Amino acid sequence: MKLTRRAMLGGIAAGVVLPRGPLRAGTQELRAAVGQVQLAPAEYPATEMWVYGGSAPGPLIRAAQGGRVSRELVNDLPRPTTVHWHGIRLENAMDGVPGLTQEAVAPGGRFAYDFAVPDAGTYWYHSHFKAIEQVSRGLAGPLIVDEPEPPEVDRDLVLTLSDWRLIDPAAISGDFDNMHDAAHAGRIGNFVTTNGEAAYSQPVRRHERLRLRLINTAPGRIFELSVQGLSGWIAAVDGMPLEQPLPIGQMFVAPGGRVDLIADVTGEVGQEAFVLEIFQGEGFALAAFPIEDGGGARRGALAALPPNPAQLALPQPGEARSVPLRIDGGAMRGLREAVFRGETLDGQALAQQGIFWALNGQAGAPPDPMAEVARGETLRIPIVNQTAFPHAMHLHGHHVREVLPTGGMGPARDTFLVDPGSVREIAVLLDNPGDWLFHCHMLSHHAAGMGTWIRVV
Ligand code: C2O
Ligand code: CU
Repeated sequence: MKLTRRAMLGGIAAGVVLPRGPLRAGTQELRAAVGQVQLAPAEYPATEMWVYGGSAPGPLIRAAQGGRVSRELVNDLPRPTTVHWHGIRLENAMDGVPGLTQEAVAPGGRFAYDFAVPDAGTYWYHSHFKAIEQVSRGLAGPLIVDEPEPPEVDRDLVLTLSDWRLIDPAAISGDFDNMHDAAHAGRIGNFVTTNGEAAYSQPVRRHERLRLRLINTAPGRIFELSVQGLSGWIAAVDGMPLEQPLPIGQMFVAPGGRVDLIADVTGEVGQEAFVLEIFQGEGFALAAFPIEDGGGARRGALAALPPNPAQLALPQPGEARSVPLRIDGGAMRGLREAVFRGETLDGQALAQQGIFWALNGQAGAPPDPMAEVARGETLRIPIVNQTAFPHAMHLHGHHVREVLPTGGMGPARDTFLVDPGSVREIAVLLDNPGDWLFHCHMLSHHAAGMGTWIRVV
């Protein structure tokens, strides 16, 4: 595999220094505003973005497991907005879905988010109002919940991955309703950053043990990841520890998904270790770790992280009701018809309104939930992807498990890929009351119809 630095915008990959947001000690505001951010390398102009706390990604929010997150959203944007706390099992009223769990916060308005964080791990927050536009403009940031006794590592690094579509030469492209994106694989950018930098680099020492928290905040890109000069385990997926850490191998991280790696620096002093994106057969550095001397001895095997409360109560798929979810539409297959805003429309009429996908024959935000369950019920959902594209299905407020063909259950996750032409059955213990969105996290797909919801009463 050929290793090249990610080289975009004319092949320059210089370090980028982000301006610090106006952090005011003692306040718990999360200010969403238009900001000028040096996203592209220094020789390029700053990018006008919509950002939290003045930076892209937004400020790292960190809380202790069992503690609370409290932030007052201050909307200094020219448009309404909300904040969704992706992967957190919180009360429904704090979930940030306009029209379902709250009214959108108007320009100049405020909204106090305050919720407990029952599960440790790697999460993130982002706008959920016209998310294809607002996330693509920069409204996303990392949210970490720390275990009371974190695993022993030398460095705990949050790596927020983003994918931007920049034009002439460093402006965010305004084609958020691009029909090709909507009907194909979603909005894929031309400039990838880690923590807002094109060439993220962090010196490490040989044999150090790193915890790398990778968060895919891209609006459509699936990251295929690999490492070089590092060896270790996938310790958690979507915040939830794996019962058995897996050796790092091929990893696909869906938009919205996260993976925690715990890896030792095994490369030689003077060289660099890497987290790579494998893209069209080549490796691109998402993070470089120049290896310095002075680390200690090699460490032993990794013990699994303690399970989260979310993982202790398992869904009981045996007795569970099954509610299939059929995904139709998109380029190459096309939508014959779907119900949109109460009307049955044919594919052409739907396309004229920017609708290309349907879930169980419904497009957009259907007035009725796909299922209504009593709190504590387990639901089985065979997801039938009849389209020609993968989809990154995300359920709010819960983690789900795949019902494996062997009868067992896969790891707990909140965002999972369903490959074209495939069926993946999930089971979910719906123990959190409220109305929970269930949608594709390829944000152009969601905007083009791919969303439904589940009511837990
Ligand atoms: Cu990450 Cu419905 O959202
Ligand atoms: Cu999709």
